[in-house]
Amino acid sequence: MKDIKNICCIGAGYVGGPTMAVIALKNPNINVHVVDINAQRIAAWNDEDLSKLPVYEPGLDEVVGQCRGKNLFFSTEVNKAIDLCEMIFISVNTPTKTYGVGKGMAADLKYIELCARQIAEVATTDKIVVEKSTLPVRTAQALKSILKNTGNGVNYEILSNPEFLAEGTAVEDLMDPDRVLIGGDETPAGQEAIQALATIYGAWVKKEHILTTNVWSSELSKLTANAFLAQRVSSINALSELCEHTGADVNEVARAIGTDSRIGPKFLKSSVGFGGSCFQKDILNLVYIAKSYGLHEVADYWEQVILMNDHQKRRFAANIVKTLYNTVSGKKIAMLGWAFKKDTNDTRETAAVYVADELLNEQAALQVYDPKVPEAQVFVDLDYLNSRAAADNKNYVTVQQDPYEACKDAHAVAILTEWDEFKDYDWQRIYDHMKKPAFVFDGRNILDIPKLKAIGFTTYSIGKGNI
Ligand code: UDX
Ligand code: UDX
Repeated sequence: MKDIKNICCIGAGYVGGPTMAVIALKNPNINVHVVDINAQRIAAWNDEDLSKLPVYEPGLDEVVGQCRGKNLFFSTEVNKAIDLCEMIFISVNTPTKTYGVGKGMAADLKYIELCARQIAEVATTDKIVVEKSTLPVRTAQALKSILKNTGNGVNYEILSNPEFLAEGTAVEDLMDPDRVLIGGDETPAGQEAIQALATIYGAWVKKEHILTTNVWSSELSKLTANAFLAQRVSSINALSELCEHTGADVNEVARAIGTDSRIGPKFLKSSVGFGGSCFQKDILNLVYIAKSYGLHEVADYWEQVILMNDHQKRRFAANIVKTLYNTVSGKKIAMLGWAFKKDTNDTRETAAVYVADELLNEQAALQVYDPKVPEAQVFVDLDYLNSRAAADNKNYVTVQQDPYEACKDAHAVAILTEWDEFKDYDWQRIYDHMKKPAFVFDGRNILDIPKLKAIGFTTYSIGKGNI
């Protein structure tokens, strides 16, 4: 296999954008082309003003600033990039199917298939095609079949190279990954392709951190890694409810179990529920795959992680209603945080939207504030749920640019995202402008509850209860 000089990535999203930027930074001799059918998104990646990049990630602006125009290019010219590059990453989205067989569970692979067909149509030289999107096991087989049967007779090697970066720490995770996983065929050509990709990562990742497997192991590992992480969150969240009923403190329990080196301290933060583009989707996928092999006990086991998560979001909202004397109708409730976690502007599957939906069903008047999520996105998310007319969402929800405005005249403040700035607010000032009694519902366990109590707030913290 000759040296790779040009690589491209189809899909300039949360994964494709940052991953390619770091590859470009670490491989100045390789030209990296990031292409996307969404012209608006590409324009944003090319914006002179680096604060306008479509993906907010700490440190990303700096990396893009260093490489863009030198060896990192963003464009909508998908065909040109396919033709030029020896290695093609596919990083398009694979949402849960909203129709047909597997609706609500299976991954919708239509964008992946479209990419494969486009590559097959355009390519006139041999290509290495790298699956970056999270895919159900054995998708590589489908890709191979499309490429072989519709292509121009050129050779393709398919690699699976799942991404383990977490949003909010994407650049850090890419710069110093726990491991890079590359799955490929056991044939000599497959092994050569694996080496070509390993060389690119080898520019900055230690050899012993680059794991190679067969394609199926690699595909399944991505789903499984996310399922295990989400399972930890659901496990601690299940205990949070028990803590609230028994007087145990979930933070203390988490610390006590996390110091057991076999369990470890990470991913034991109790929360209003996990969100993000991956956890739910990947577990649903795992459940669907298990079911399709007739493995019903396996499917039920993993599905429970999601059921627990749904329960956590619902019970958080229900507790707000119950505490506010069983009615929130017409009451102003401030929601601080809309992103699915801190340090990202991503709102996919955010717990906030489900909590908002429950409160809107009770006719609450919501005042939303998030430091990074634009107003329009809040309404896109609410409208997507399809629970009520878009006009009603507009009537009952106001998005504020200022957190103090959001809390003004509110009966309660609910913390949905763990943004650091929430801890530093002038809570006395917030209290002074709220209706009394003033309630705080901390869905992320981040606030200094004794301090809030001293001010006069009535407080609830997840896993501690009404304290
Ligand atoms: C990624 C992975 O690809 C997904 O499988 C994983 O589970 C979550 O993370 P992400 O980068 O977050 O997805 O998705 P998104 O931000 O939606 O970006 C995908 C991009 O692909 C979009 O900009 C979209 O316009 C583009 N796209 C989609 C194409 O260019 N061509 C298509 O045919 C479809
Ligand atoms: C996840 C995986 O971590 C990453 O490896 C994979 O590539 C994509 O999916 P991401 O979704 O970006 O990354 O965020 P993550 O940090 O895993 O958090 C997911 C959700 O779990 C968030 O809503 C977060 O707030 C929640 N969470 C996480 C908790 O509620 N408690 C915890 O202790 C940890």
